[in-house]
Amino acid sequence: MSRPLDFFGYQNGQLSAGGIELSEITKKVGTPVYVYSADGFLSPLQALQKGLSPLRESTICYAVKSNSSLAILKLLGSAGAGADLVSGGELYRAKLAEIAPEKIVFSGVGKTAEEILSGLRYGPNGIYSFHVESIEELKLIQETAKRHQLTARVAFRLNPNINPKTHPYISTGLKRNKFGLQREELLEAAKLSVNMSHVQLCGLSIHIGSQLLSLDPLKEAFLALSQVIGDVEAIISRPLEFADLGGGVGVSYELKGPRPPRLSDYTKLIVKAFGARSVFKSRLRVLIEPGRTLSANAGVLVTQVLFRKHRRKKDFLIVDAGMNDLIRPALYQSKHAVVPVRRNSRGKSFPTDLVGPVCESSDCFASEIPLSSQLQAGDQLALLSSGAYGMSMAGTYNSRVRPAEVLIKDGQWRVIRDRETLEDLVRGEHL
Ligand code: LLP
Repeated sequence: MSRPLDFFGYQNGQLSAGGIELSEITKKVGTPVYVYSADGFLSPLQALQKGLSPLRESTICYAVKSNSSLAILKLLGSAGAGADLVSGGELYRAKLAEIAPEKIVFSGVGKTAEEILSGLRYGPNGIYSFHVESIEELKLIQETAKRHQLTARVAFRLNPNINPKTHPYISTGLKRNKFGLQREELLEAAKLSVNMSHVQLCGLSIHIGSQLLSLDPLKEAFLALSQVIGDVEAIISRPLEFADLGGGVGVSYELKGPRPPRLSDYTKLIVKAFGARSVFKSRLRVLIEPGRTLSANAGVLVTQVLFRKHRRKKDFLIVDAGMNDLIRPALYQSKHAVVPVRRNSRGKSFPTDLVGPVCESSDCFASEIPLSSQLQAGDQLALLSSGAYGMSMAGTYNSRVRPAEVLIKDGQWRVIRDRETLEDLVRGEHL
């Protein structure tokens, strides 16, 4: 499982990735800037592909929400990944990145008729599956498909009422969460689907939460899903084609300390539950929807110190990135390791709050962390493990433009998204 500095490290005292010094990038592009390593995305993807290879058929549907930049989608798509989408906007991105329709699944509790129609019209026969989260949604899919004389392939998302033991905001598989269908509802939906002319029930899906640090809840969830498969097949009188096991495997945000589950243990668990020696004897195609696993440690957010404010017990370092650029610490009290772009042995470390310019006290990336007292205006820092849910959750609060994004690949770097301009900021507004 990846760690914050697996794909970034010091070379001649300079934080680098793939042979490129990050200061070379910031000299041209400025700060704040998200910098990604292509290897950082591809290496966990390949580990998952390898781990799942004993299965008869499997597809890795990258959770686009974790990092939806077009160049990243293209990179992962070219390496064989599909996409797990949750909106028409993500569908549009998948199309631009030319992700194959038979590798696309569409999750989410609130799909609109318009979004459903764009899924039905994706490629010659529509996307691989709409993952249905309510009976009303199922009816809307049937109506929409019928109106346009198309057929919708669907799966039902099971809410297994399992505690994933993660932050409550990113837990999705408990009864109290809005996601999925409970077992009884799911069986009811299966019965309804039998008489639906334009809906074809092809699979079941599950996703119980994100940043899971133990595989136990996943094991439990796979078992719960396995137990429903037979019941559904009995209702529809034919075998299902696939099982989608969701995403959620956690990564390490810490430089030291215990490692989260290994990807090889995760894939072994899957192969055991659905492979040749399982009760399913590998007859189901297995899908997974990893987001963070592929993207978190593939990216850093580079920011520049603007000011130091000295206080008796701690200093504030005010940097040019804010909570609008990386909201995870403010929203989930998540911790991102902070390292200097130029390794610096000068100065004693002093308790420091790393804060942004946004007018909110929650605009704080790290509280009372030891940072060199010599860091000063102009010095650059990297917030590690920012590749997942960083730029994709960025906003323009305080009318701040969103940062640029850069991709390092094959010993070269390029801007994959320009820094927003003031014109971008007011696009579509009318005086
Ligand atoms: N599949 C579904 C249906 C999901 O809802 C999610 C994430 C994933 C897959 C991917 O999960 P992952 O492998 O990345 O854990 N903004 C939060 C995370 C929200 C996750 C939402 N759903 C964060 O920054 O931690």
